[in-house]
Amino acid sequence: MTRTVRAKAPAKVNLQLTVGPPREDGYHPLVTVFQALDLWEVVEATPRDDGEIRITVDVAAGAPVDVSGVPLDESNLAWRAADLLARHYGIGDGIDLHVIKGVPVAGGMAGGSADAAAALVACAEAWDTGATRSELAALGAQLGADVPFSLHGHTAVGLGRGDELTPAMSHGEFHWVLATQTTGLSTPTVFAELDRRIAVREQVWSEFEVDREVMAALMAGDAVELGRCLTNDLEGPAISLMPRLSDVLDVADGADACGAIVSGSGPTVAVLARSRQHALTIAAHLRASRLADAVVTASGPASGTVLIQD
Ligand code: C5P
Repeated sequence: MTRTVRAKAPAKVNLQLTVGPPREDGYHPLVTVFQALDLWEVVEATPRDDGEIRITVDVAAGAPVDVSGVPLDESNLAWRAADLLARHYGIGDGIDLHVIKGVPVAGGMAGGSADAAAALVACAEAWDTGATRSELAALGAQLGADVPFSLHGHTAVGLGRGDELTPAMSHGEFHWVLATQTTGLSTPTVFAELDRRIAVREQVWSEFEVDREVMAALMAGDAVELGRCLTNDLEGPAISLMPRLSDVLDVADGADACGAIVSGSGPTVAVLARSRQHALTIAAHLRASRLADAVVTASGPASGTVLIQD
């Protein structure tokens, strides 16, 4: 009997995102601190015996996600994850993948990477490959720089392309408000805009390191401190490509947020609150401003990619 396996993978925010000069392969070296959030991409995997990989996509109940631009062919990251896994383990079967999206598309929160992570975990189980987590992380890194973190979850420092992970200590729960835009920003375009703005870098890249204040605030579980030291080198470039993001950040400031930052390459703005209640108040301000297409709350750190048991 064919069985369906389900896995869910988290979204992320970058608490620190420091970007170095482009490498020869086009990627940029990063010093980043990831936190996984409890917004999920779910992938349901059902083996098929004809060797085909098929994808369908849906929106999670109540999620502010527009899936009209999500490809259903080989360019979909979940499709590529299943294909890579099948080739790596010599699997002859195919798979039906049903992707249920809870993370904004092209929003700077690694929704596509989460699809790949969830597809890897669901397909590995559905095909009974016996793959270990570290084998899946190595395959994930071939699919995208953020895929290993989506598998890992929790809080981690990312070096290299962001795929060389070290777990970071974190205490308690942090409450976020996410102001999303229907129109996405292309990650390569935002990185290119950064390169254009800082053609000459004055500091030697190898001198950049993890912000100790971020680490201390995480250890202390102190949202006020963490809010003060959020940094993202891609924020300026994202704002110049979508100027209204600066107004969204101003509204968050006006609502007494602990801090607010463009998430990854944007355009989602991530706003840190003192408490769940404070997050709801900030969300109300952001909704009233009408500067965001949708506003949701989330908390972190969330787990990495896990199977969902029935
Ligand atoms: O790895 P992924 O496909 O998610 O990356 C998307 C794009 O983002 C890359 O093609 C590259 O242009 C940019 N990127 C980068 N440096 C990184 C991560 C991503 O330049 N460390």
